[in-house]
Amino acid sequence: MLIQKRTITLRQMEDTMTDYELMREWFSEPELQEWVWCDEKDEAPVTIERIIEKYGSRIKNPTTVFPYFILRDQEPIGFIQYYIQDQVTIGLDMWIGIQKERNHGFGTDALKQMVEIIHNKYPDVKHVFVDPEIANKRAIKCYQKAGFKSSGEIVDGNLILRINFED
Ligand SMILES: CC(C)(COP(=O)(O)OP(=O)(O)OC[C@H]1O[C@@H](n2cnc3c(N)ncnc32)[C@H](O)[C@@H]1OP(=O)(O)O)[C@@H](O)C(=O)NCCC(=O)NCCS
Repeated sequence: MLIQKRTITLRQMEDTMTDYELMREWFSEPELQEWVWCDEKDEAPVTIERIIEKYGSRIKNPTTVFPYFILRDQEPIGFIQYYIQDQVTIGLDMWIGIQKERNHGFGTDALKQMVEIIHNKYPDVKHVFVDPEIANKRAIKCYQKAGFKSSGEIVDGNLILRINFED
C-alpha cells in the first residue's frame, strides 16, 4: 500500500472572509474550546465581527502579533501566531482547528517551521517560548517534540517551555 506523506506549510493569515470564517469555525470546535478561546473560557459563540476586529487588526497592522495559518497539503487546518514580548523574546500560540487532524505530528511540524522563520527573521532574538496549561499534556508533548524545554517555571497555571537559540 502506498502511504502518502502529508505536507505541512505555513502562510500568513489573510484579510479575507474565508480566513475569518475558518477561525470562527475552529473556535466552535468542542475539543479546541477546552484549551483555546477568542477572549475568555466558556464564551458564547464568537461572532464574525469579533474575529474580524481581533485578527483583522493584526493582519493589517503587523507590529507585535503575527498570525499564520497551518496548511496540510495546501488546506488550512490550524493557526499559529508569534508575538514580540521584548527585544530578545518571542512568544507563540497555536492550535489545530480540526479534530481529525490532531495527533498526526502536524502541530510539531508547524511549530518547528515557525521557530525557523523567527530565527531567520529576528537574528537578535534569543528565546522563543510557549505557555500551555499544565493539564494540556498533548500540547506539552508536542512542544517538547519541537525542541522546547521546561525549567519547571509555572505562571498562572501555565508551564513555560523555551528554546534558547544560544544553547
Ligand atoms: C496541541 C496541538 C496544537 C498539538 O498539535 P498536534 O498536531 O495534535 O500534535 P502532534 O501530533 O505533533 O503531537 C502530539 C503528541 O502528544 C501525544 N498525546 C496525545 N494526547 C496525549 C495525552 N493526553 N497525554 C500525553 N501525550 C498525548 C501524541 O501521541 C503525540 O506524541 P507522539 O507523536 O510521540 O505520539 C493540537 O493537538 C491542538 O490544537 N489541540 C487543541 C488545542 C490546544 O490544546 N492548543 C494548544 C494550546 S497551548
